[in-house]
Amino acid sequence: MFVCICNAITDRQIQETVAAGASSLSDLQAQLGVATCCGCCSDLAASYLNSSNQTQSTVTAGINVQS
Ligand code: FES
Repeated sequence: MFVCICNAITDRQIQETVAAGASSLSDLQAQLGVATCCGCCSDLAASYLNSSNQTQSTVTAGINVQS
């Protein structure tokens, strides 16, 4: 699914970039160019960061790691 129509960026590209270490919308903008034109996709693009962070919190909570 296209998340960013302006730059033809898909959800898969964003997920892969987050998995490779992108941790902020600025990272996604720098690496993919997402949300660098009209900005309509910025909330949706950022939501992939949030879901990733929630997963990390769940995983790290199980091994008692503080961040
Ligand atoms: S839809 Fe992503 S910048 Fe316009």
